[in-house]
Amino acid sequence: MLNCWEAALGAAVSIPVFLFVAAPYIRRYVAGGRCARIIIACRDIAKAEAAASEIRAETGNQQVIVKKLDLADTKSIREFAEKFLAEEKELHILINNAGVMLCPYSKTADGFEMHLGVNHLGHFLLTFLLLERLKQSAPARIVNVSSLAHHGGRIRFHDLQGTKVTANALHPGSVYSELVRHSSVMSWLWKIFSFFLKTPSEGAQTSIYCAVAEELDSVTGQYFSDCQPAYVSPRGRDDETAKKLWSVSCELLGIQWD
Ligand SMILES: NC(=O)c1ccc[n+]([C@@H]2O[C@H](COP(=O)([O-])OP(=O)(O)OC[C@H]3O[C@@H](n4cnc5c(N)ncnc54)[C@H](OP(=O)(O)O)[C@@H]3O)[C@@H](O)[C@H]2O)c1
Ligand SMILES: *[C@@H]1O[C@H](CO)[C@@H](O)[C@H](O)[C@H]1NC(C)=O
Repeated sequence: MLNCWEAALGAAVSIPVFLFVAAPYIRRYVAGGRCARIIIACRDIAKAEAAASEIRAETGNQQVIVKKLDLADTKSIREFAEKFLAEEKELHILINNAGVMLCPYSKTADGFEMHLGVNHLGHFLLTFLLLERLKQSAPARIVNVSSLAHHGGRIRFHDLQGTKVTANALHPGSVYSELVRHSSVMSWLWKIFSFFLKTPSEGAQTSIYCAVAEELDSVTGQYFSDCQPAYVSPRGRDDETAKKLWSVSCELLGIQWD
């Protein structure tokens, strides 16, 4: 799959930082004659543009494009998907990376609690809307940046069975990013222990690994950490819970996906 990089490499969302650090890797592929078209989907266009221009400058790849996407608003997700599908013929890699942590109680535009709405439902809807395009573009990959093992492995094999679309989840490690911004205690701890935390560049490695490693061509439904398969807690592997989460998600979003 890696030799069709002239086609769209769709990154659903990425922290600007993530794509910035992905630059050396992108450069390698560009240098190898492979040109990835990358869509950075972000809620903050200015922040994303700053990161995108850094990537363009460093890699010489002009195909790094910023699009507006607010995962806390299903209208924005649908608009993004609609435009994406109209403009991009192929999608090979979808990286579901955005997330919030410990943010004060608030609701998304649709009235979902913010963590549930952004971290789960937003990506769930986006993936649903883009899935056909991934299937058409197969081989293709879905990469879910998750967190601890029990959040990983929301896996529904049958969805992708018979397709050449894989879906894997990962834990990036403890990364010195902006994730803890809503908690002063965590921000303070993160600062003190920053030396022991991964840099954003290091934190991006497992995502990149899941996105492009050739040995993962036919690996699906796995959970990774430090670029290796990792343990998923029994709760994360529980089929009943997964099924329930799936149907509740569909209900909340008013979609039919089975
Ligand atoms: N850092 C860690 O130690 C750690 C550990 C385990 C898992 N993770 C996971 O890694 C992923 C990346 O997090 P990070 O550590 O890089 O944190 P981060 O620096 O806070 O990045 C999170 C990104 O998500 C974006 N985002 C938040 N809400 C959004 C929305 N409604 N619509 C669109 N984008 C939105 C943010 O956009 P803005 O830039 O506009 O704020 C930001 O770019 C998350 O899924 C997180 O759960 C991180
Ligand atoms: C990845 O996330 C999407 C959207 O929530 C979900 O449909 C899919 O089952 C997830 N796959 C894995 C392996 O986590």
